[in-house]
Amino acid sequence: MMPQISIFETRDDLNREVINLIDYLLQSKSTINIALSGGSTPKALFDYWSKAKCEFDYWKRIRLFWGDERCVPPNDEMSNFGMTKEHLLDKIPIPPGNIFRIVGENDPEQEAVRYGELIEKEEHFFDLVLLGLGDDGHTVSIFPSSIKLWKSSKPCVVNLHPDSGMKRITITGKVINSANYVAFLVTGDSKAIKVKEIILHRKENLNKYPAAKVAPTSGRLLWLLDTEAAALL
Ligand code: 6PG
Repeated sequence: MMPQISIFETRDDLNREVINLIDYLLQSKSTINIALSGGSTPKALFDYWSKAKCEFDYWKRIRLFWGDERCVPPNDEMSNFGMTKEHLLDKIPIPPGNIFRIVGENDPEQEAVRYGELIEKEEHFFDLVLLGLGDDGHTVSIFPSSIKLWKSSKPCVVNLHPDSGMKRITITGKVINSANYVAFLVTGDSKAIKVKEIILHRKENLNKYPAAKVAPTSGRLLWLLDTEAAALL
């Protein structure tokens, strides 16, 4: 599968492209389901998105989920939900019923089961999964050292961060690869080597980097990069 690669001069250009993609998806469905990720790139997207779209009629058609979460309460600075709340949710008129967070403060194993059941309900099929790329080649909370979890038969599992040992809850490969669209949002020069290894040498790195395993059966995989992240392509 050849991904579609787009390179942007500025982060705002990249953010605008994501919003345009969502507008496009909204043309053919009344409600769409989007899985969000953590990191600094989505943070900039959320700031942009909250300014670009302020109508209730827009937000009532969007249901937000998360690809992964740290096992902390929402007010912890490590919480992906907390970051999204601060940069997006607190600024937009989205119905609370459209927000499906991973409850990081609950028992992790039970929460992974609950969230997996939730996203496997047919109406929660993901129209769009937004992914980040870790400097080590991880995506969602599946790391190179735990790459086997990508192929889990479960939609959602508990994992440990390889360095901190902190628990994370993460969706797995089968959920990501069954989404209609999957988009990597990658910015900054620290990503350039992994971007090159994964895009240009995917086969050799398939068992090394979880991000190389992203291959939606729909064929719709987008890499949205800034010039720094794309420098070695
Ligand atoms: C994590 C991070 C990670 C993030 C990437 C990309 O939980 O380990 O949130 O998954 O998505 O490191 O981050 P940037 O957008 O900051 O490059």
